[in-house]
Amino acid sequence: MIFRQLFDSVSSTYSYLIAARHGGEAVIIDPVLERVDRYVELLRELDLRLVRAIDTHLHADHITGLGELAARTRCITVMGEQSGVDVVGERVTDGARLRVDGLTLEAIHTPGHTDDSYSYRLDDRVLTGDTLLIRGTGRTDFQNGDARVQYESIFRRLLCLADDTLVFPAHDYRGETVTTIGEERRHNPRLQVASADEYVALMAGLKLPNPKMMDVAIPANRRLGLPS
Ligand SMILES: [Fe+2]
Repeated sequence: MIFRQLFDSVSSTYSYLIAARHGGEAVIIDPVLERVDRYVELLRELDLRLVRAIDTHLHADHITGLGELAARTRCITVMGEQSGVDVVGERVTDGARLRVDGLTLEAIHTPGHTDDSYSYRLDDRVLTGDTLLIRGTGRTDFQNGDARVQYESIFRRLLCLADDTLVFPAHDYRGETVTTIGEERRHNPRLQVASADEYVALMAGLKLPNPKMMDVAIPANRRLGLPS
C-alpha cells in the first residue's frame, strides 16, 4: 500500500494520499487548497489517478482542496451526509464502504468536534480527522460541536477498535505523526475520565480562541474551497 502523510505547516494539517499500488487509483483525505499543486505533482510522480477526495468534516482552520482537486483531476468529492456544503459528489453515512482499486475505507460517523465528523478505517489503521488527536481531542465549542456526543464517538466507536490499530489524525501541533488506539486509551490526558460528565466539564474548561482562518475557511469550505 502507498500511504503518504503530507503536512501543511501553516495550519498544521495532515493530509493523506492512499493507493493500493503504483499505476492505480488513489484517494486523498483532508487536502489543503494551497498544497494542491504538490498533490497533483506527487500523483504524477507515483503514477496514480485520483478518484476520490474526502474531507473528514467541514474544516474551520484551512481552506479545503476538494473543489480544486475535482476541477483538476475530475475526482469525486466526498463528505458526510451531515456536512453543510453546497455541492459534493458523494455523501457518506455511518458504515459506508468506499472502494478504491483494491482498498476499502469504512466510514465511521464520529460526531462531536462537528456534527459531520467522520473517521475512516482502512486495514490496520484509522484516520480520525479532528475527533481523536495524538494526546488530544478536537475542540467541541463551535460548528455544532458537542462534548457529550464526542465522548460517545471516542469511547463507544474508536476505542472499541483493536489496541494496536494505528491512529492518523488530521492535525498535530507538536510534530507527532502517528499513535495507536491502546496508546491513546492509556496516555491521552483527555481520555483519563470516569464519565461523560467529567469529559464534558473538561472540554468546557478549555476556553480556546477561535481559529484565525475560521471566518474565511467555513464559508469557503461550504463551496469546497472554490471561489464564490
Ligand atoms: Fe476541525
